[in-house]
Amino acid sequence: MTFKIALIGCGGMGRRHAHGYIELRKYFDTVEMAAVCDVHHDVAATVAAEIGEATGSTPDIYTDFDEMLGDADLDGIAIVTSTPMHHRFAIKAMEAGLHVITEKPMGLTLKACRQMREVSKKTGMVLAVAENYRRDPMNRLTRALIEAGAIGTPYFALDIGVGSSDGAVMHSTVWRAKKEQAGGAPLDAGVHNADMLIYLLGGVDSVFAEIAINESQRRLRPMNEVAPVLAEMYNHRREDGYDTGDIVEQTAVDTAFAVIRFKSGAIGQLIMTDTSHGQSLGVSTVSGSSGTMYRPRSRSGESPRIVRGDGTEIMGDALLDLVPGFELDDTLSTLWNGARHISSYDMDFRDIDSKILAYEYLDMVQAAESGRQPEVGPQEGMDALALAYALMESGVSKTPVTVEDVAEGRVSEFQDEVDDEMGI
Ligand SMILES: NC(=O)c1ccc[n+]([C@@H]2O[C@H](COP(=O)([O-])OP(=O)(O)OC[C@H]3O[C@@H](n4cnc5c(N)ncnc54)[C@H](O)[C@@H]3O)[C@@H](O)[C@H]2O)c1
Repeated sequence: MTFKIALIGCGGMGRRHAHGYIELRKYFDTVEMAAVCDVHHDVAATVAAEIGEATGSTPDIYTDFDEMLGDADLDGIAIVTSTPMHHRFAIKAMEAGLHVITEKPMGLTLKACRQMREVSKKTGMVLAVAENYRRDPMNRLTRALIEAGAIGTPYFALDIGVGSSDGAVMHSTVWRAKKEQAGGAPLDAGVHNADMLIYLLGGVDSVFAEIAINESQRRLRPMNEVAPVLAEMYNHRREDGYDTGDIVEQTAVDTAFAVIRFKSGAIGQLIMTDTSHGQSLGVSTVSGSSGTMYRPRSRSGESPRIVRGDGTEIMGDALLDLVPGFELDDTLSTLWNGARHISSYDMDFRDIDSKILAYEYLDMVQAAESGRQPEVGPQEGMDALALAYALMESGVSKTPVTVEDVAEGRVSEFQDEVDDEMGI
């Protein structure tokens, strides 16, 4: 059977999804991109044409989600709009009997996520989250090594993402500057860090954080100046009402410093800011009773590295001796050209990105067909977002918060304003 899917939101990430689908079709013919939808017809048409050229079959183009839902013959949808629409479209689609994969963050707020979780449970439709970092084979290996005790008992993790946008709007997308649209680097990008910390170290109990908006006046600069690696993916997108050079008011938090207590007892430090002028610092380590794991940048293909107390380093294929049972699952292995037991790989970023997206689609389709949960479903999607929002909630309340209280809505002061403004 062919699983017919529609892509909703054809901006920068939507185009990356299209490339993921094109990659998927090189190996599997079980999924068909039957429709694409964006409020901007030309933006949707660019993506539809790219798919048509690569696969020989051009998806139908829609500019209205409801019209598409009533009209198109579909089994599922992929939601890649800006974040405020994720819950609205997911809920409508599941109620119409369609399976859903939505980009991260799963929803605008935890309240939106709880509504999505409820509808998925009620309808039995799959609700998958396109969280990509953990699917990187090197993050699979890192987790296997930690689980196998390669660094002993984990004591603490450092996750420090300190850089500068030089006063520009993140990713040249105005919605990312807005609190009510789930913007800001600590939330929009931090949800990846949150998912990876949980993926590697298990659930989080509590968080204490300080937050700030250091730069409330930002300039909308061209994407090739702001994020050159992604610029090609974003050159067709439009955001009405804004022009390059405009000053944009940033209402989203741009800086968060947090201390985390994992349920295991391990401690974590998560620092995210894009206001560190003249300093760029990326630290991603997990230290345990017999060494420190240096995590490679996600989607770099580089090997993880373990350093022991006596300075001995283990990396590359020597790591595989510590996890003889480690191997990529069948789908990931197929996409990675048959690789199974690998400690690094050499691939262009765009190819890696596309292969991971192809994997996410296949995981969602396999979940729909087998009745199992997707790898990142409502639980995992909410765990990561609750951790990212826990930084915001602790920051406004000036007290430690538990992630569970944030997930279940018992702590929501920061998000209440977002929910009110967006009418949920
Ligand atoms: N997983 C990742 O690494 C990653 C990377 C980038 C973005 N994202 C996520 O993907 C989503 C999209 O981000 P982006 O960078 O592509 O933003 P974007 O602004 O470039 O694209 C969003 C698109 O959605 C369209 N859209 C908005 N409202 C719509 C509606 N009601 N109906 C149809 N189309 C609508 C817009 O016209 C735009 O083309 C966000 O949730 C973001 O967090 C994930």
